[in-house]
Amino acid sequence: MVRVVINGKVCEAEEGESMLAVARREGIDIPAFCYDDALEPYGACRMCLVEVVKGAKKGITTSCTLRAVDGLEIVTDTPEIIQHRKVILELYLAQAPMAEPVKELAKKYGVSRTRFPKKISPLDPLHNRCILCGLCIRVCSEVMGVSAINYIGRGQYTEINTPFLEKSDVCMGCGACASVCPTSAIEIKDTEGVRVLTSWSNTEVELKRCSVCGRYFAPQPMVECASGKIEPDIEDELKDMCPDCRRKYISKRTILMTRGEVER
Ligand code: SF4
Ligand code: FES
Repeated sequence: MVRVVINGKVCEAEEGESMLAVARREGIDIPAFCYDDALEPYGACRMCLVEVVKGAKKGITTSCTLRAVDGLEIVTDTPEIIQHRKVILELYLAQAPMAEPVKELAKKYGVSRTRFPKKISPLDPLHNRCILCGLCIRVCSEVMGVSAINYIGRGQYTEINTPFLEKSDVCMGCGACASVCPTSAIEIKDTEGVRVLTSWSNTEVELKRCSVCGRYFAPQPMVECASGKIEPDIEDELKDMCPDCRRKYISKRTILMTRGEVER
């Protein structure tokens, strides 16, 4: 463990821990859009800027990528930092004018309009809410190992979608992208037997139906991926069941095994 100082408060941290994570644990509010503790910090959104006053390279930097070292001291809300955040929020108000978390944070910082031209498109599959933070791309490639989506286009035309705007044939329909998105930009719809990733070029993934209760419970590719991890001797019985029916099956089987009515 090391000691760091945030806004004059002495805090304990693990050496190398993200300073944003330390601040959050200490109840110190630093705005952040692109930080997720399941992923390596990347420093994309620039909202979490802080100023290093002692112990590392001095100056303004992103707290998510700043690592805790003994004696490090930072401040989180100087007038200069606040001014930087206001300008970034103006940019986000233009880039993603329908993103509620952006609007809320802008209001908190007294930013009510943007000097930049607003990008509004009625056909935007991300509903004018994408701030291009890249979290969805990174969770898809780094956690799921799939890379179904990526940045496409350049400069002001940059957006996130499937390559060539074609339906993805590698997407597993897991929905990890939607769960990490800080602005709820990604739309996924479950219809009878099919999951449609409407934001990702209407990619369709078949849903698996439970062999016991008949409910659609998960995307088929996810079930196939998980079934390899189930105990081999009971896999056949379990692989087509939803989690609820699996639990019931396992507890019933455990009771029968304890009574000696089925083999272990
Ligand atoms: S869709 Fe969401 S997670 Fe993906 S880049 Fe845009 S804001 Fe970030
Ligand atoms: S949370 Fe640090 S740059 Fe986005």
